[in-house]
Amino acid sequence: PLIAVLNGPNLNMLGLRQPEVYGVATLDDVEQVCVQAAEQLDVAIDFRQTNGEGELVSWIQECRGRARGIIINPAAYSHTSIAVLDALLAVDLPVIEVHISNIHRREAFRHTSYVSRAAIGVICGLGVRGYALALHAMTDMILDEDD
Ligand code: DQA
Repeated sequence: PLIAVLNGPNLNMLGLRQPEVYGVATLDDVEQVCVQAAEQLDVAIDFRQTNGEGELVSWIQECRGRARGIIINPAAYSHTSIAVLDALLAVDLPVIEVHISNIHRREAFRHTSYVSRAAIGVICGLGVRGYALALHAMTDMILDEDD
């Protein structure tokens, strides 16, 4: 099975960007974490990052019929984008939302995520290991669906 791992704006700056909040791992490191977890779990992943809201919407739409689930860190679009929410609702796939930081410990404007309404579950505050945890959970759910 194929699982899409989609990343939103400014996540290309990981490692450089507010390391006290997001840690020192780069986006390449995050991809490595995902590749390793996927190998262990025997699933395929399509790992991507974009700064564009429209591109993120298009990538989500492309998952329909192609991927079995979506793991998404929508970054700032979590807090602003009804378009990203609607795309996730339109694809009819299980969604897990991931945030590296604990958005609930931070500024009030980060406490609400539109995207969470489309998510089965949300992992936040556990750093980049949240991506591996999400891949484990998604694989479990796909296997459950298959039997
Ligand atoms: C983030 C949290 C968001 O509030 C922020 O806009 C990001 C990253 C996280 O992974 O902790 O860009 O999604």
